[in-house]
This record gives sequence, structure tokens and C-alpha cells, in this order.
Amino acid sequence: MKSFLLILVFIVVPSAPTPVQQDTQGKRRQEQNVDSAHYFDIVPEDSGVCIRVTSEEGLYRFVSDGSASICGLYIIADPEHVLEIEVETLDISCSGGGLLAIIDGWELNGQFFPGEDHPKPLSDRFVEICGHSTSWKPFRTELNVALIQFLVPTLGEGFSVSVRFLQNFQPCNAVIQWPKGIYTLRNNGRAINCSVAFITKPERFRLLAAEVGGTGMGRPSVNLETGVIYKCKERGFTDYVEVKGGGGIDPDNMLEAVNVCGTFSVPSKTPIDVLCNSSVIRLVSSGRYKNSVTVSFEMLTEENLTTGKFSLVCEIV
Ligand SMILES: *[C@@H]1O[C@H](CO)[C@@H](O)[C@H](O)[C@H]1NC(C)=O
Ligand SMILES: *[C@@H]1O[C@H](CO)[C@@H](O)[C@H](O)[C@H]1NC(C)=O
Ligand SMILES: *[C@@H]1O[C@H](CO)[C@@H](O)[C@H](O)[C@H]1NC(C)=O
Repeated sequence: MKSFLLILVFIVVPSAPTPVQQDTQGKRRQEQNVDSAHYFDIVPEDSGVCIRVTSEEGLYRFVSDGSASICGLYIIADPEHVLEIEVETLDISCSGGGLLAIIDGWELNGQFFPGEDHPKPLSDRFVEICGHSTSWKPFRTELNVALIQFLVPTLGEGFSVSVRFLQNFQPCNAVIQWPKGIYTLRNNGRAINCSVAFITKPERFRLLAAEVGGTGMGRPSVNLETGVIYKCKERGFTDYVEVKGGGGIDPDNMLEAVNVCGTFSVPSKTPIDVLCNSSVIRLVSSGRYKNSVTVSFEMLTEENLTTGKFSLVCEIV
């Protein structure tokens, strides 16, 4: 069987997935009937790459036209959901060099989201299958995105998978595709780091409110407004929020625009502009505090671009 990681090396997404219109409150209509079938109509490009992005539940089918193209179905739900992907039919002969891989998270240009902040090591975040058995147990993601990657070189072979969105009551890592909105990250008292990625650019963030690193400076019962505290990492605080940006989607490979902590309910006046392909708000939590941070985000236009105090430029835009 071919190595899944070898396949990934060749996947090149021409541009970030196009944002799909959705209401910014994150409200979603009731779970859809999985019977509504979506057919793949993937036409491989000259480069042999075929990519689709979807934010719909349903049954996805693919039948090979005989070309040896590596295809990717990028699935994204709202941040409050995880995905359940089930193989309904499988007809991919292993000897013919075919393979179907399901990945918890996204892979783009050789980088993974989330990076180190995913609770599982990379080797446990995917399954790769071929053959004719359908007795695979449903694949459940830890966050709101998944990637189904496949190579089916034999004409007429293919597969079908059902995709369902399940409620996630304590979301941590997520990808957000809305062009504008407000989002709150929480650790719910847990010792975890959460990265929320934005795939539109350039992006303007504003810190609206936070309670990060404990209130009352060691006296947990006292709710003191500290205002925005900058450079918390450098000052040795264990809990903080990072705003990062990079060319790819792996937060571990991104540059930091700013890191903050403290307790504040007055929105910061200083915008944080990230002129990078992807940006991330990352909440680092030691588990000693119940942290939360609320940010507004907005995709900038060319006219809006200014390089202010907290701007991060990854490339010439
Ligand atoms: C969270 O991130 C910090 C700093 O990057 C790291 O020291 C810590 O080990 C991470 N915690 C977890 C649970 O991964
Ligand atoms: C940003 O994305 C574009 C289009 O996908 C890509 O060509 C470029 O290499 C990326 N920039 C960096 C710094 O990776
Ligand atoms: C960006 O510019 C547009 C028009 O040029 C304006 O409507 C919008 O409010 C601006 N946004 C910001 C964040 O300045």
C-alpha cells in the first residue's frame, strides 16, 4: 500500500478555499437529512490536482474517470461541530494503486492544521484504506474540519462516504471561514492550547474582552480589570493569547504579531492586522485558570491596509 504521507507531498492547493457565505453568529440549520446526495464532479486540472471545499453534510460519491489524480475534499463545519465520516461503499483495488485517506484536520501545501495543538499525534489523525470492505468504523474528528484525500486510478472504481456534523460543546481548535464576525475562545479550565485559524487575508483583529491568566493577580475571588497586558510570554506568564500569521496553515510555523493576557472588558482600540495567507488566534492555558478571549475579525480590503503598531506582514500583498 502506498504511503499516505507520500501522497500529501504532492497535494498543492492553488488558492485557499473560497469562503462560503454563512451567518456570522454560527447558527446552523438543523442537521440535514444525510440522504441528500452530493455528487463529486471533479475535473482534474492540467497539474493533475482536483480539490473541492464543502460545508454541507451529506453523501459524497466519487467514480474514477481513469486518471491518476490525487483529489481532496476539504470539509468545514461551524466551530461548534465535529465531523463524523463513514465509508458507505468502497471499491478501490489496492493492487491498482488506489487509496482513500481521511484526515482529522486539514493539510494544505504540506502543512497541517492544527499543528501541535491537536490532542493526538499526527500518526493517529488519519486512516488510509483501500479494498472492498465497508466495515470501517465511523471516523470522528476532534475539530470542525476534515480532509478526504484519494487516488483512484482504475476507471469505474470509487467510493462513497457520508458526512455528518455533530455538536461539540467544548470547541478548542477550529477553522473559521466567515469574512467577518466575533469569536470567543475558551479553555473551560483545561490544560490545553487552542488554535483558531482564519483562512481569509489580510485579516484585521481586535481584542474585545478577555480573562486570561487569572483575575485578581493571585487572589482568584477578586475580579480586577488589568487592561490588556502585552508581552505576557516574555514576562513569564503561563497563560496568554497569541495572534499569529503565516504563509501556510500550521500554527507552529507562524510568526507572532502580538501576545497578551489580563482581564479586560473594554475593547482594545489598537487593531492587529495580519497580512498573511493564514492567521491564528491561539489561547495557551496551563490549566490553572478558566480563560476566555473574545476577538472580532474582519477581512481587509486593499484600501484598508495600513501597517500599524501590531501589524504582521508575511509577504508583499
Ligand atoms: C501549550 O503551549 C505551551 C507554549 O507553546 C507549551 O509549553 C505547553 O506544553 C502546551 N500545552 C499543551 C497541553 O500542549
Ligand atoms: C500564500 O498562498 C499562495 C497561494 O496559495 C502561495 O502561492 C504562496 O506560496 C503562499 N505564501 C507563502 C509565504 O507560503
Ligand atoms: C475598509 O474600507 C471600506 C471601503 O473602502 C470601508 O467600508 C470599511 O469600513 C473599511 N474597513 C475598515 C476595517 O477600516
